[in-house]
Order: sequence, then C-alpha cells, then structure tokens
Amino acid sequence: MPENQTVYMPPQPFVDKALMREPLVYKQDALDFWEDRARELDWFEPWRKTLDWNPPFATWFAGGKLNASYNCIDRHLNTWRKNKAAIIFEGEHGDTKVYTYKDLHREVCRAANVLLRLGANKDEVVTIYMPMIPETVIAMLACTRIGVPHSVVFGGFSANALLGRINDAGSKILITCNGAYRKGRILPVIENVHAALEQENTIETVVIYNRVNRDPELVYGRDYLYTSLRANASNECPPVPMNADDPLFVLYTSGTTGKPKGVVHSTGGYLTGVAATQKYIFDLKDDDVYWCTADLGWISGHSYVAYGPLLNGATMVMYEGGPEYPDKYQWWRIIEKYGVTILYTSPTAIRNFIKWGDKYPQKHDLSSLRLLGSVGEPISPDAWEWFHRVVGGGRCPIVDTWWQTETGMIMLSPVPALTPLKPGSCTKPFPGVSAAVLNEEGNPVAPGEKGFVGVTQPWPAMLKTLYKDDERYVNTYWKQWDKPYYFAGDGATIDEDGYVWIEGRVDDVINVSGHRIGTNELESTLAQHEAVAEAACIGVAHEIKGQVPVAFLVLKEDYFPTQTLIDALHELITEQIGKFSQISEFIFTAELPKTQSGKTIRRILQNVAEGNDDFGDITTLANPDSLEDLRKYLGNKLL
Ligand code: PRX
Repeated sequence: MPENQTVYMPPQPFVDKALMREPLVYKQDALDFWEDRARELDWFEPWRKTLDWNPPFATWFAGGKLNASYNCIDRHLNTWRKNKAAIIFEGEHGDTKVYTYKDLHREVCRAANVLLRLGANKDEVVTIYMPMIPETVIAMLACTRIGVPHSVVFGGFSANALLGRINDAGSKILITCNGAYRKGRILPVIENVHAALEQENTIETVVIYNRVNRDPELVYGRDYLYTSLRANASNECPPVPMNADDPLFVLYTSGTTGKPKGVVHSTGGYLTGVAATQKYIFDLKDDDVYWCTADLGWISGHSYVAYGPLLNGATMVMYEGGPEYPDKYQWWRIIEKYGVTILYTSPTAIRNFIKWGDKYPQKHDLSSLRLLGSVGEPISPDAWEWFHRVVGGGRCPIVDTWWQTETGMIMLSPVPALTPLKPGSCTKPFPGVSAAVLNEEGNPVAPGEKGFVGVTQPWPAMLKTLYKDDERYVNTYWKQWDKPYYFAGDGATIDEDGYVWIEGRVDDVINVSGHRIGTNELESTLAQHEAVAEAACIGVAHEIKGQVPVAFLVLKEDYFPTQTLIDALHELITEQIGKFSQISEFIFTAELPKTQSGKTIRRILQNVAEGNDDFGDITTLANPDSLEDLRKYLGNKLL
C-alpha cells in the first residue's frame, strides 16, 4: 500500500451513461441482489430456493433449470442481435473470421450433434485442448448444450500435463486441433496429444479441428477430423435443460501439492455471477467492442471471453497471438482496426508495453477505448498510471479486478461509475459479495495491518467442490478459520477507506505472468531427474512477469552442476508442465536449510534468491552447515 494515494473520481460522461450507477446497490440484501441478477438470465424452470448453504457446500438456485449455450446464444436469436457479430476473430497472419450469434448457433448445434453421436453424456467430462480460436468457444458451448461438463486444458501445457488432466477427469472424448499459430510458428498441438496418448489414458475418441491446414496422422478408430464429422451433423440440437446445480465445467489449477486441483463450477450460480460481473463491472453495452486478451485455457478466458460476453449478447474481439507478433504494434493496431471500446488485460502485458516504450501505443488511434481492466496479478501504481495515461488517454476508468479460478467471477473490483479509483488497489467487494481482509482469528484487520483475503458469505459463482475430492475442497479452502469462511490464499492490507491492497499469494503458489504454478509441482518434476536428490522452489519478484521460480537443488553423490544438467532440467519442466513455467535460476547447494522436524526453511531460500544475506532469525535451523553454500553463492552474486 503506497504512502501517497492518488484518487481518480469516475468521469462524469461515463457515469451519465453507466449501467450501474445507483450507490444503494451496495446496501441491497445480497440474496435479493443475486436473485435480481439471476432473473437477467433465461430459465426453463424457475428456482425454488435462492441459496441452500450447508457450509462449505452451497446450492444456488435449487430447482431451477437452464442451459448455458441457450443463454449465450439462443436467447439472442429472437432479437435484433441475431446477425450481430458475437466473435470477431483475428488470426496471427491477419486472417479474420466473424461469427454472428446465428453462426454460433449453427456451429454449436453441429458440434453438439457430433458429440452426441460420439457418445458424450453428462456423466463424463470432455477434455478440450485448443488454442485461442473461436472453435474452442464453440466446443465449450457444444458441451454445455448437451449438459456435458468440459475441461479445457491450456494449449501451453505439455503432453504430460495434458495426460494428467485427462486421466484425472476420466475423459473419453478429447477435442483438439491439428496445430496452432504462435509467434509465426506452428505449435505442435496434435503432436502433444499423440505423445500424451501413447501412455495409459482414458481417451477413446479424439476430434481434431483444422487450424493449420495440415493433415495430421490419425490413429484408426480413435482420431476423427472434425470437418468430416461436421458434414453430416444437423444444424439443430435442442439445448438440454440442466439443473442449476449441475456441473458446467472442471478447470484444473495448481495447488500446494504436486497434483493440480479440478475446480468444479455449477451451471446456474456460475452463469449468474459471471453475467452480472461482466455486465456491470465492464459496463458492457450493445454497441461496445470488447476485448479480453486472456487465453481460453484459464479461468479469465472461461468467464470473460467465453461466457460473460456471450451471455450479454456482446461483440468481442478474439486474437490468436501475443502482443509482440508480428510486431509490437499488433494489439494497438487491432484496437484501432475494430474500434475496441473495452480492453481487459494483465499486468504482465502492461509491464511489457511499458518496457517497449510509448511509441507503440501512440502510433495508433486508441480513442475508441472507454474502459480498461486488469487481472491476474497485483498491478503497481506506476503501471496503473501508465495504462491510464498512455493507453486510456487519461479518460478511461480502470477496473482492477481480483478473483480466482475458484471464485469463478470477479469478487473485488470497482464498479466504474460508483467507485473512486486508487491506482494499485482492487478497491472493494462487488455488490452482493462479502469479502474482507481477515486476521488469524478470522476478524477484519485494522487499516494498515496485514491479513488474508477471506470470503465470508457464499457467492453464486463459487466453486462447487474439487473434482471427485470433496475432502480436499474442504481442507484447502475452508479450514483456515473456525468460521465458514473461504480462504483465498492471498495476503492483503486494507486502508482507511476500506480499500483492499492485494500483496500476493501466501501459500506455495507462484504467480508467473498471471499463471498459477505450485512450487510442489515444480519440485516433484525436478526430483524426477536422476541427478536430483532434493529440490525446493520459490518465487522471486520479476520486473515483467511479476514472479518467476528459482530452484534450489541438492544433487546426488557423483553428480555435478553442469550446463548439460541445467539444460536437461529445463527440458524436463517443459516436458512435464510447459514452457511457461520455466525455472529462472538454479542454485546448487549441499543441503537445504531445515528445521529439527526436517521442514525446509523457505524464508532463508527466499532471502538468498532475492540476494539478501541477512537470514534473520536462524534459531530453528537444525543444520547450520547448510548455509555455507548459500553464503558462497551470495558472495559471488554480490561481488
Ligand atoms: O494471487 C491472486 C492473483 O491471481 C490468483 C488467482 O489465480 P488464478 O486462479 O489463476 O486466476 C487468475 C485470473 C482470475 C489470486 O489468488 N490475482 C488475480 N487477480 C488479481 C490478483 N492479484 C492482485 N490483483 C488482482 N487484480
């Protein structure tokens, strides 16, 4: 929390036209608020009870029946939006494609019919391993149309990471594509799939979309080209009425153990929370051109690329690539080309832009922008100010939105016409959300004190459970306090005005460019190498990525820290998890600092990795010799 806080009042022209501008909304009873929001969706059958709360298990809108794809598509077809652009896709090579709501309806129905023919059913999760293309959204919606939960695996995950997620979900059907364009290269998507499926797995059918005009090798009886399946599929597929509490999807996220957690979201609650936050936080109107740069493989892509905009009948831009390909003008070029009005992106992207210089955004006309958003990591006041000034031309409110895979929807955020902004703070809970910064006892901290983010009342888009693991769900999120409060795993402070300032994770999770990576996941992967006796990973601050992992390694006897070994370890991480989680530095030591009970003292490792030779209190250290190599390393580094 900075000493001097600047406050930006909501700009009057913005306030005058905003969708949510009545401050009393913050005083409304939470359940009444959410009922009103749920009524903004279309239900086949009304719910009987808004919330059934059996801590920590919640059932939202019990008795209600609805369908996600119906709400995202069909309900717009009886309106003028029928031929409105839903997705404007821009490929890396400048190829473009527009899907109207009517187009989406046809394609989703066809894909749903294909899935039905392949035997998809609501008791089985369909895994989707695809890049940033509209067909990924179509595949997701096709699943929801027939009531089948999907599990989207980020395209940057390796074959092994994909395999683990397929098997955990027990998927029999995998939807993928023959490749993807990334930074001018073709990503080996289908090759990864084949590599994954060489090992023991649950998959019976692989459906392959065409993205890169290459004929993939097909395994007879298992692999099918989507184009041929689609050819015989009907354009109509009735949406299946689902119970509000039925699972909509599973999304794996890193946790504090080596095994990723399958976060399960329900249908009615999730859609209600996402539709409302999308509409009111982004002030999303019919004439907006909305662009969320998140990948569909993460929760931001699920909630605010796939579901949120379509539930609201919006027009969105979807871009296949990153901000530096084909050159560093690309995102600004896209904003100018389509007249983007709302841009939702990450602090990592913003820090990159700052590093590259103002000339890139300044070359393009960004005057269409009227609202900016940030998600995934804390944004520093400096980066916030830059984003506001250079990209937003000083006129666009910024919504710094705090939330998680588990919360499903934005929890802490300004409502742009109601909340004065302070750069670096995600401000306050959204109406209907009860979240606070709590101390060890579960009481709100005083201004300036540090605490943990907790959610003190259930919220509609909350995770239902962890896939087939209720016990882990209870233990991970609901045991921090004696009260039925959700523990988010983030540290924060609160200021005199009740504004929340997020400090980052307090558990063994590293946030690299907004991607969550469990230190245990990295450690267990490194430990697979024959040379490694012990590994401990921690996150250190990084100028662009927010955090990067540093690994401390103890090698087995007769092994030495050579470049070949380091290369092999990099390779292992890429193979087992994915390139995006690469270790930034390896530090070799004869021993890790431990307590009497054998627990690694991570605080010391943190100091070493940050180049700090003051180890603080080392009275609990059982093996003082362990500091020798670490001191040597620091000595060399500080020279
Ligand atoms: O540490 C917080 C950080 O991202 C974590 C959640 O990661 P994930 O489940 O992958 O979802 C990311 C996209 C919603 C949180 O525990 N985080 C997310 N948004 C913010 C943030 N940290 C600070 N400010 C934010 N706005």
